Amino acid sequence: SSQLGQDYILRPLQLSDYRAGVLEVLKDLTTIGDISEERFTEQFEFLRARQGEYFIIVIEKAATGRVVGVGTLLVERKFIHECGLVGHIEDIAVAKSEQGKRLGIKIIGALDFIGQRAGCYKNILDCSPHNEQFYVKCGYSNAGFEMTKRF
Ligand code: ACO
Repeated sequence: SSQLGQDYILRPLQLSDYRAGVLEVLKDLTTIGDISEERFTEQFEFLRARQGEYFIIVIEKAATGRVVGVGTLLVERKFIHECGLVGHIEDIAVAKSEQGKRLGIKIIGALDFIGQRAGCYKNILDCSPHNEQFYVKCGYSNAGFEMTKRF
């Protein structure tokens, strides 16, 4: 993407990103567990088959070929709002060493663009209070509480 200059490439997730470190980037977000390349491939193929529903993008650092950022948009199909579509932004992470370089805001901007193009009337996300100001800078506003039940 031209907005990222020549140092970074924003593109869809690809199979080789297992080796390019996409799971290491996500480790900053939460527990990943031990995922073999085989399991990664299986999940990747499942998601790829659901075209138009799952959009997973990464930012690759051109100089190293390593993944330094990642984000997901899941498009939900509703009956309400005339069978409207809602985009769910999930699992956003930027590698620690690359934080504060506006990569996060680029990821959200790209997922907003994809959501809009897919026909979503809004994108929504859950985040901790700690990240609220980041999302405010991405143009989001607080619209209530997140409720959880763990199983
Ligand atoms: N609090 C306040 N402001 C912030 C924060 C924060 N936690 N994080 C970023 N900002 C500001 C930046 O200073 C910048 O401001 P500016 O425009 O005035 O310069 C603006 O937000 C954009 O910041 P970026 O540089 O694009 O942010 P970065 O690339 O560091 O990515 C992110 C932010 C994704 C939250 C990153 O810190 C990260 O990966 N954290 C760990 C994982 C995580 O918490 N992910 C989000 C989970 S929520 C979800 O996935 C839906």
